[in-house]
Amino acid sequence: MRFLVTGAAGYIGSHAAMRLLDEGHEVAVVDDLSRGHRGAIAALAATGGARLSFHQGCVTDEAFLRRALASSRAEAILHFAALAYVGESVERPLDYYRTNVCGGIALLRAMRAEGVRRIVFSSTCATYGEPDPGSTGIAETTPQAPVNPYGETKLCMERLLRAECAATEGAPLAAVALRYFNVVGCDARGRLGEDHRPETHLVPIALEVAAGRRSEVRIFGEDWPTSDRTCIRDYVHVEDLVEAHLLALGALEPGRFRAWNVGTGRGHSVREVIDVCRRVTGHAIPAATAPRRAGDPPVLFADARAITRDLGFRPMKPALETAVADLWRWMQAHPRGYA
Ligand SMILES: NC(=O)c1ccc[n+]([C@@H]2O[C@H](COP(=O)([O-])OP(=O)(O)OC[C@H]3O[C@@H](n4cnc5c(N)ncnc54)[C@H](O)[C@@H]3O)[C@@H](O)[C@H]2O)c1
Repeated sequence: MRFLVTGAAGYIGSHAAMRLLDEGHEVAVVDDLSRGHRGAIAALAATGGARLSFHQGCVTDEAFLRRALASSRAEAILHFAALAYVGESVERPLDYYRTNVCGGIALLRAMRAEGVRRIVFSSTCATYGEPDPGSTGIAETTPQAPVNPYGETKLCMERLLRAECAATEGAPLAAVALRYFNVVGCDARGRLGEDHRPETHLVPIALEVAAGRRSEVRIFGEDWPTSDRTCIRDYVHVEDLVEAHLLALGALEPGRFRAWNVGTGRGHSVREVIDVCRRVTGHAIPAATAPRRAGDPPVLFADARAITRDLGFRPMKPALETAVADLWRWMQAHPRGYA
């Protein structure tokens, strides 16, 4: 098949594009390289050869998107391109709405104009906001009430997709939103890594300490009502997340919008994650306590039963050790990341 993958110079999009190339598909990448890496595109080209094309440009540019769709003759879209830092979204909400919402509208308009009617969208657990204290896993039926502009833009996109699926003019859209929890790890074959700048994710930060690139990892609050007093999150391996996208592509139905959580349904505390990083790297990884961050819920993990029930999704790499070891290997082989 022929796919257009937005944001595939970035972390998750590059892994999805690589998997599609591994399976023999044609992949057109759209990315403005604002947060992504030429090195990721080079790795994709090394695997895909002529089956990979790169279209550098912005997702808010509808004419550019139409040209990319037309020249690639894409049959389906995986839409990863976004700004994705919660804190930054509070500082610069207009940038977030422009990229994540205006970009989504431009993409949907370009898809409509070019007759492409299948899309899988990267959504997030941040659309749920702060779960009730004491609540167990977050299910898809949990009310969506985001508490920051990042989560708002993703919820807005979900609503746009739902409306476009129900639109009465033209051929109906088929759309799935996958609401990711925390994503970890990298390509087990070492072709791709994780290199966010700035890095805000716990596992790569802890590994940067082990690699001597930072002095310590900060723990935001050690006074939470959890077993070891640190926050609990759900970590899914990026390769499992990509598998969920392939299952979602198979579940697309014209005129229907559906959404699933992607997580493991298991929570790890911040301390547990740092301990795993210590075991994998053999490094002490000093940790320092920092104040709580506003809007951080103490416990956030998925009720991930629906995607298992409906699509047969089962994480193949549920152990955090595997994800940490995969990323640690890549970081050692690429001491300067993609630079
Ligand atoms: N990483 C996570 O744990 C996580 C969790 C939940 C949801 N998500 C979502 O998954 C998606 C991918 O996340 P990621 O961690 O790979 O992020 P990333 O920043 O590594 O990748 C995003 C890519 O989008 C590109 N991009 C940004 N703005 C663009 C624009 N205006 N035009 C074209 N390209 C643009 C960037 O250059 C980058 O390559 C995002 O939509 C994010 O909201 C990520």
